[in-house]
Amino acid sequence: MYQFKNLDEYQNYHNQSLQNPDQFWSEIANNFEWTQKWETVQSGDFLDANIKWFDGAKLNITENAIDRWAQKTPNKTALIYEANDHSEKNMVFSYKDVLEQVENIAGSLRSLGIQKGDRVCLYMGMVPELLFSALACARIGAVHSVVFGGFSAKSLADRINDCSAKALIINDCSYRGNKEIPLRDIALEACEQTPSIENIITHQRSDKKLDTLDKELLWDDFLSREGDKSCEVMEAEDPLFILYTSGSTGKPKGLVHTCAGYMVWSAFTFANVFQVQDEDIFWCTADIGWITGHSYMTYGPMLNGATQIMFEGVPTYPTASRFWDVVDKHKVSHFYTAPTAIRALMACGDEYVENAKLSSLKVLGSVGEPINLEAWEWYHEKVGREKCHIVDTWWQTETGGIMISSYPGISEMKPTYATLPLPGIEAALVDQEGNEIDNNGEKISGRLCINKPWPGIARTIYGDHDRYKQVYLSTFSGRYFTGDGAINDNGNFRITGRVDDVVNVSGHRIGTAEVESVIDEHEKIIEAAVIGAPHDIKGEALWAFAISHSNDWQQIQTEICKMVSDEIGSFAKPERVILVKNLPKTRSGKIMRRVLRKLA
Ligand code: WT7
Repeated sequence: MYQFKNLDEYQNYHNQSLQNPDQFWSEIANNFEWTQKWETVQSGDFLDANIKWFDGAKLNITENAIDRWAQKTPNKTALIYEANDHSEKNMVFSYKDVLEQVENIAGSLRSLGIQKGDRVCLYMGMVPELLFSALACARIGAVHSVVFGGFSAKSLADRINDCSAKALIINDCSYRGNKEIPLRDIALEACEQTPSIENIITHQRSDKKLDTLDKELLWDDFLSREGDKSCEVMEAEDPLFILYTSGSTGKPKGLVHTCAGYMVWSAFTFANVFQVQDEDIFWCTADIGWITGHSYMTYGPMLNGATQIMFEGVPTYPTASRFWDVVDKHKVSHFYTAPTAIRALMACGDEYVENAKLSSLKVLGSVGEPINLEAWEWYHEKVGREKCHIVDTWWQTETGGIMISSYPGISEMKPTYATLPLPGIEAALVDQEGNEIDNNGEKISGRLCINKPWPGIARTIYGDHDRYKQVYLSTFSGRYFTGDGAINDNGNFRITGRVDDVVNVSGHRIGTAEVESVIDEHEKIIEAAVIGAPHDIKGEALWAFAISHSNDWQQIQTEICKMVSDEIGSFAKPERVILVKNLPKTRSGKIMRRVLRKLA
């Protein structure tokens, strides 16, 4: 297998991976099933922007994620489903069950004429069918694009149109806490402007009766269609999925991950960062609409034949003990969540977590934003009872999997530090000019770059390779630039946050430019600037500064918030909209967001 088991082994892996990458990665890759092995392990670099891993190989990721286990350990539980309503009975799927589900969906998709290379958009709540549908796309070689259920009709339409998706799979609604999100209504509104969509497939979460449209198929009718269920043979560098994320400028970018490299990276990082053993129960609380739900629900755990929990709801419903109830009920050993959830639960008081047993927990994970010391300590003391290892995992949509982390039972954890780069990762700090800052065992700070390609790196931005080169590979020539600032203290990395105009609200990545362009559309707004301001629970919150000559300011504020909700999604709604006479600008007319941030 490919798990390192102690610090020496970690160091050995790390050295080997950088000194003899081809040999190292071919040994790791030999742990998977291939229809045909690769000709070259790695080619291309950050100058030519033509990165390839395992070129010449043929495979299907679902053969590795499902069929392999359906043969070896058919009755092992793959998925335990915990619905929003805690009284709803758990659904349990063995690897054999997952295979059957995925095969059925795959056959039905093919029967609709969906083929290798076609894009399929998924706009669903957290139901098992979302995970199965994503895997079914991968099985037939269709490229899935999952859009988080919190996005608006406009955002959904933009994402469908950007990749000309041929089919859309939706839920009629989704349940989160005491809210019901009308996903189908939103999707149908989006579909008024999406000419490429030929089929809408609706999985019903509720038992409401629906009047179906011409293009629409209900789940049971969809599943009753017969089609070829077999694995499509994929080339290593064929696209596996597209996932949209925000940048500091322009519209969201559709990052493209490819079959072989992503498979190896998501599986390898899952196995090593979490050190999951056969009998463990893994629970990642992320939504599949984000990269965490791709790499550490859909692919990583399945590629390792692990048992995992999928949860539909929110941490505070019906009470703030919900997470801990689920941990105790299913004897969760590995729990992976975001600092914003930890801070929200902290604010509810300690009695919830203190009343739980939590004796099954071994490893706690944190992801999505820097974890502040107070939240780290609470997580360690109250949740982990000082006996669990915390992995603070730094990575990005673009990196495909975890890049920097500590390793349970192997390396030391250091509060607020992600600590050590994974094997294959040469992390470097550079100054503004791109010169690598020497670390002679001292504490240094700079911009975080990665010096060499790793298997999981996104290969391009869908339809815009120039933008990919420009955003990631041109700031510091020959390196991948992360957009984050970091500290390196004697080899241990601490991520301090974005150094560009990207804001991280509750772990959701939002481009200030996107929000500004929505606000600028308001007829009574002359100009607006958006920044991230510190927030106790969300980490950061959006503040908008706007110039207007109108008197009915209060109404404009409400209208602005509604516009942002409608055009992007309610999670991007500004926390405050502040009226200003003018905005601080440089001589060349650029808004000085730095000054506004200080003000906030
Ligand atoms: C940005 C990427 C990684 C999956 C979820 C977010 C921030 C992520 C950490 C961490 C400090 C972190 C960075 C990064 N970030 N993890 N452990 N410590 N910051 O993926 O939406 O692509 O956002 O999230 O700023 O650049 P994403």
